[in-house]
Amino acid sequence: MPPIPTAELHLHIEGTLEPELAFALAERNGVVLPYDTQDELRVAYSFTDLQDFLDLYYALMAVLRTEDDFADLANAYLARAREQGVRHAEIFFDPQAHTERGVPIGTVIEGLSRALDAVQETHGITTRLIMCFLRDKSAESALETFESARPHLDRIAAVGLDSAEVGNPPSKFREVYARARAAGLKCVAHAGEEGPPAYVWEALDVLGVDRVDHGVRCLEDEALVARLVADQVPLTVCPLSNVRLRVVDRLEDHPLPAMLDAGLLVTVNSDDPAYFGGYVGDNYTAVRNALGLDDATLRTLARNSFRAAFLDEETRAAYL
Ligand code: ADE
Ligand code: ZN
Repeated sequence: MPPIPTAELHLHIEGTLEPELAFALAERNGVVLPYDTQDELRVAYSFTDLQDFLDLYYALMAVLRTEDDFADLANAYLARAREQGVRHAEIFFDPQAHTERGVPIGTVIEGLSRALDAVQETHGITTRLIMCFLRDKSAESALETFESARPHLDRIAAVGLDSAEVGNPPSKFREVYARARAAGLKCVAHAGEEGPPAYVWEALDVLGVDRVDHGVRCLEDEALVARLVADQVPLTVCPLSNVRLRVVDRLEDHPLPAMLDAGLLVTVNSDDPAYFGGYVGDNYTAVRNALGLDDATLRTLARNSFRAAFLDEETRAAYL
């Protein structure tokens, strides 16, 4: 059976760096990795929590240096995503993780954009870029990053918020989100992955987000669920990620069915597929098998992904 056509809305491009490409880029750029072989690296992919994953995620980015590197990374992701049914992809990137290593933001955006333009041309896959602020860095650093991106805003559809959640509430980034919205950008934020429901409230009421990334912990707060349902705020859920980062113990325990039953606008996504054991189609297959979802439910999830995408209505209608 061909894969179900989907939009992927929660995907960190740096989280698509497979060991094979990491070693190839390390060689090309003369970067020494703290692992001798790809197998040795894969052994490190057993995480205790979000921070444990982030430590490796940021360390491996050392191999990404040139426009070609970012184009190769995005091309590799898009080839895999296409095989798994992705027709539209909204792609996060973490500029501060690169600029702090001396890689200019323009290098990152131009390299990624080259791959995104090419896949639209060759395969008709539509894409958007979402520029994320690292929430464990300062609000000033986010503002500086936003200002440095101004010459490139025609390439950016939205801003997002990621990295270590607990202790870094959305309200810390009130000002940069106000600036982004004033510049005509959409807004999303990771909230309710490891952090409490209060962070989801803040993402909605202080940042004014159009979607919540993860949001699985909303179920702990009945009033929050009612709000998310009433406003049909999309949640970009990442089941395999939630297992690998120990947000849930087992996929069989994942709250996805409860979220659907509550009337939430849930989508399924891969987050950091090179690290978490699967791309978006693998996530659909895994939840189908572990949670016993029927075909109609899988179609609802896929349809939700296009409903929640940052598309003009004509393009959305063509996908639905
Ligand atoms: N950066 C990359 N993946 C992330 C995740 N799952 N949560 C927060 N920040 C991230
Ligand atoms: Zn994420």
